[in-house]
Amino acid sequence: MIRLHTADCHAPHALLATAGPMTPIPTFVAMTPDQLRASYLEFFQQRAHRVVASSPVIPEGDKTLLFTNAGMNQFKDVLLGLETRDYQRAASVQKCVRAGGKHNDLDEVGKSPRHLTFFEMLGNWSFGEYYKREAIAWAWEYITRVVQLDPERLFVSVFRTDDESHAIWRDEVGVPDAHIVRLDEDDNFWSMGPTGPCGPCTEIYYDVYPERGDAVWQPGFEDDRFIEIWNLVFMESDAQADGTLVPLPMQSVDTGMGLDRVAAILAGVNSVFKTELFAPTLSRIHELLTGEAVEAPSLFDHPQFTSYCVIADHIRTVLFSIVDGARFANDGRGYVLRRILRRAVRHGRQLGFDAPFLCEVTDAVVANFQHVYPELRLKHREAATVIRTEEERFFRTIDRGTSLFEEVVTEAKAAGSTTIDGDAVFKLYDTFGFPPDLTEIMAEEHGMTIDTAGYTAAMERQRSRSRAADERYEDAGEWQILADGNANTFVGYATLEVTTDVLRFRPLDEGRVEFTLRESPFYAESGGQVGDTGTVESEDGALVIDVEDVQKTPAGITLTGTVSDGNLTAERLSRPVHARVNPDTRQRSASNHTATHLLHAALHRTVSKDAFQAGSLVAPNRLRFDFSHGQAVTDEQLAEMEAWVNAEIQADRPVTIHDDVPLAEAERRGAMMMFGEKYGETVRMVEVGADSLELCGGTHVGRTGELAYFRIVAESGVAAGVRRIEAVTREEAFALAQADRKQVETLAELLKSPVAQLEERVQKLLTEHRALERQVESLTQQAANQQAAQLASSRVDIEGVGVLASRVDVPNRDALLAMADGLRDQLGTVAVALLAAVLDGKPALLVMATDAAVKQHGLKAGDLINDAAHHVGGRGGGRPTLAQAGGKDVGGIDAALAGFADAVRGRLA
Ligand code: SER
Repeated sequence: MIRLHTADCHAPHALLATAGPMTPIPTFVAMTPDQLRASYLEFFQQRAHRVVASSPVIPEGDKTLLFTNAGMNQFKDVLLGLETRDYQRAASVQKCVRAGGKHNDLDEVGKSPRHLTFFEMLGNWSFGEYYKREAIAWAWEYITRVVQLDPERLFVSVFRTDDESHAIWRDEVGVPDAHIVRLDEDDNFWSMGPTGPCGPCTEIYYDVYPERGDAVWQPGFEDDRFIEIWNLVFMESDAQADGTLVPLPMQSVDTGMGLDRVAAILAGVNSVFKTELFAPTLSRIHELLTGEAVEAPSLFDHPQFTSYCVIADHIRTVLFSIVDGARFANDGRGYVLRRILRRAVRHGRQLGFDAPFLCEVTDAVVANFQHVYPELRLKHREAATVIRTEEERFFRTIDRGTSLFEEVVTEAKAAGSTTIDGDAVFKLYDTFGFPPDLTEIMAEEHGMTIDTAGYTAAMERQRSRSRAADERYEDAGEWQILADGNANTFVGYATLEVTTDVLRFRPLDEGRVEFTLRESPFYAESGGQVGDTGTVESEDGALVIDVEDVQKTPAGITLTGTVSDGNLTAERLSRPVHARVNPDTRQRSASNHTATHLLHAALHRTVSKDAFQAGSLVAPNRLRFDFSHGQAVTDEQLAEMEAWVNAEIQADRPVTIHDDVPLAEAERRGAMMMFGEKYGETVRMVEVGADSLELCGGTHVGRTGELAYFRIVAESGVAAGVRRIEAVTREEAFALAQADRKQVETLAELLKSPVAQLEERVQKLLTEHRALERQVESLTQQAANQQAAQLASSRVDIEGVGVLASRVDVPNRDALLAMADGLRDQLGTVAVALLAAVLDGKPALLVMATDAAVKQHGLKAGDLINDAAHHVGGRGGGRPTLAQAGGKDVGGIDAALAGFADAVRGRLA
């Protein structure tokens, strides 16, 4: 099914059957974006292309990519010849993000009228079928006949050695030589990333300003004049990590046209931001800022239009990514998103926002795109919550950044410098999101400059660190292809055993192997549920592989296991194999998955309807559920939820799976939708009892009674605004109950009390304990007083001040303090004392001075302690009447004591 909604599209044939009769495509003057999307797919559908839905902007199972950066990403393995589909031509409208990685336009956004971090790519593909001639001719036909761009204003570039494309453009299409330029690798050789499919390309450019006279053809063109709209790549090679190009088994076509750019041309405007793809967003920003509703064009001359554009671009990237399952984080993709959000917030602050606003700008994006990407509507509320939380955090961070900036300025001024140090500029940027130009402006207000070279050096150091940490494609060795087919067929809802074919395999280290099956009864890790385990056996039983892990990858459901019996050979795997899921672990995972749904429902009943799922883990022996919530869940709430889930278990509610439910119906019934799941036109809905309805692809039990017993193990915080509940069912829950009882029995035994009276017994013990503590305190004080009385007798008199210096034997600092208190009463009104002890092998000093000694003689404990402390290699501090010090050198205690009288004399003089 085409997942494209053409509500206000004039094209009447949006859903023509593949390879149907050639129908003339209606043409439009100044098509809208909706008409562009629809007419593009229809044009290629009529040319026997399969229309394929956009993949998520967060790529699945491809470690070479942070974000989906082109329509071809979902076909990577087909282009590499590793996978076959039941079609050889495809067309799509793909959500793309170009921020981070090889294709990164982040720094251009705002400065350039045509660069975006999020955009939609119209693309068509041939997988080893048609090649340059058809690709070029159809592109020209679509762009000049359907879109009706003026051929006079179109220019093309071809790769410097590509005579064939040059000839097709000139001789078959009729583009004059003056409109064709040859460019080198920088411009006309496209690759997806550092590794993967690549090849020479030919690009179509549009002349935005023909009034400037004859075009000047030179590499790079006149930057603002010629806008690249369509790239046709001829995929020929697979780039290796070492830079070499390995020829692909077949030649393919991969094209991509920028929807936003063509929309701008058709709208007759000079910037993608002035199209209707952005108008509602720009208006919404202005409305949030001023309370005034205006049409977007009235903002085009706004002095801060750039900030409006940056926000409008960045919120699309952030929203689409969050909706497709990404989260803000301190590394990888989540970090790139965090930086993008911060940049948008910073531009928002420049406009005058001082509180979260992006979460509310999302309304406009959802309204503008939900008919094309329904996932936006389905997950809007959740995504807005995630964005708001992150914004709130960043607004707080900005306040802290401002304080840091002020500190840095004060320090620099104190040091007589007028420059803000490069590391500080970098820290303000990296930690607090202050770009250097902002810091520079703030510095100027203090008559200061910033150390740009130092900043660049610090940035470079950071870059090389992150380059090292960059996720790279890990190649484990050559795949051996055994059979054609698609490895995405999961048969494990209905059966745990099948006889099927191995499609491909590759040996890993230590007797392990990775492989795919034509039909997999093994559930691949997804939706939080871990993959199944089990065995795959060759037909003759001579080879047994224990399956340990199952993942979804671009190659399909991919199993990893260890050869536990026999030798791994292609021949053995070429005959049918028997695949069998371990029924016990499957059943336990299923119990925990159903329990997760019940826990989710319980959270909504007891804690909050806004406790959105933020992640989950469903394993055979435990489950974990993360959700957005601002504070800890109370013990009472946890107890209530646990009781409710157990009541649902006792009621033995049926678990009903509804397959192929139209998405709209699931929405109408209020089914809960998860982050990071892909939803097609129809969805699978899991209903547990009367209170839980979720879209879910996981495996579940038939009735809740199979869960037997449910226990919450822990509740904790995992990130700002995200809480986690861990729980268990069945055997694990019983084991926990038994462990609890064992613990209680052990305590009862230790406390020599029957279990029933345990509480009373502990209460009594605590009361006794407190009484004993008080008794010990008073005895310690008495002993200290006695010792003090003895010590007092050895005091000497120095100019009317009683002075005592003595080593004492005490167990801890409290006792030392108690002794000082005792001395205060014994030494007389005008007195000072130094006590020295060894505690835990280290010197501990204390100086006491009476009020009168301080007031009449200026003898402060704080001064005298330092006189003494330097003998033991320490420093001290405290009040004028009492100060303490530690130290390193026990051997210095005698010198400290011996020097005390002189120190007092010195202070008196
Ligand atoms: N993959 C090529 C590009 O992104 C053509 O779609 O430009």
